[in-house]
Amino acid sequence: MPSTDHNTNLQTRHNRATRLLHAGLALAIVTQLLTSLQMHGPDDVQAGDILFQVHRYSGISATVLAFGLWMTILLRSRGTDLGALLPWFSGRRLAALGRDIKVYAGAALKLRLPEHDPEAALPSAIHGLGLVLISAMAASGAVYFVQVALGLHSAEPDGMIAMTVHLALANLVWAYLIAHAGLAMLHHLLRSMRLSTMWAFGR
Ligand code: HEM
Ligand code: HEM
Repeated sequence: MPSTDHNTNLQTRHNRATRLLHAGLALAIVTQLLTSLQMHGPDDVQAGDILFQVHRYSGISATVLAFGLWMTILLRSRGTDLGALLPWFSGRRLAALGRDIKVYAGAALKLRLPEHDPEAALPSAIHGLGLVLISAMAASGAVYFVQVALGLHSAEPDGMIAMTVHLALANLVWAYLIAHAGLAMLHHLLRSMRLSTMWAFGR
């Protein structure tokens, strides 16, 4: 749906709060993933190197931004419905998702990318799963942070439930980021969607 604001040519169905929070979250997650490649995490003796400190504090920022994005999704009047992002609780939404999976599978067999449809069920369901995944990473990291800060546990991540979840999900974040950002760029290059639908910050 085009923007209702007449001061700009920006055409996007995403409101400004969604676009700003999405950008902040994406930058924080890229920082998290890059730091995780080289950082030395804490153990019983030392508190972790500088890259781990960047991971820690950008991770806390990601936690706040993910919470803000959920709140915006709940409260906004323009943008993707919460039910489209989380279709798992509605028979009607699940049936639409099933139909959409068939469309995508048929196109994939012909090595085609279906036309970008902002109302399509499958992309929104995957965006929702991505946001749940990021929220689980952020929440498990934040639980670890609080447990260590309160002195309930040593900084050594081994053996902590929160960190077991964190480390188990880490590779899925790479997969989501590469697939999601890759498809967004592909749609942009094929001119079936403009990146500025999400990556523009005007009103
Ligand atoms: C959305 C936010 C976050 C993402 C995407 C993320 C991602 C990652 C990744 C990819 C790893 C490496 C996993 C591996 O080596 O297999 C990691 C490790 C870790 N993260 Fe996070 N993280 C996030 C938030 C946090 C927060 C808030 C904390 C709190 C301090 C934290 C603490 C840690 C620790 C302690 C490790 C293990 C370090 C080690 O190997 O010793 N993370 N994280
Ligand atoms: C891990 C980091 C990221 C997360 C968690 C994430 C999450 C999301 C979510 C939840 C949506 C749906 C928002 C809604 O409909 O209300 C979305 C849409 C979008 N994202 Fe991301 N994103 C990330 C990174 C990126 C990156 C790096 C790019 C650019 C290359 C990107 C490009 C887009 C675009 C263009 C849309 C709009 C799609 C449409 O309107 O059909 N995202 N993202």
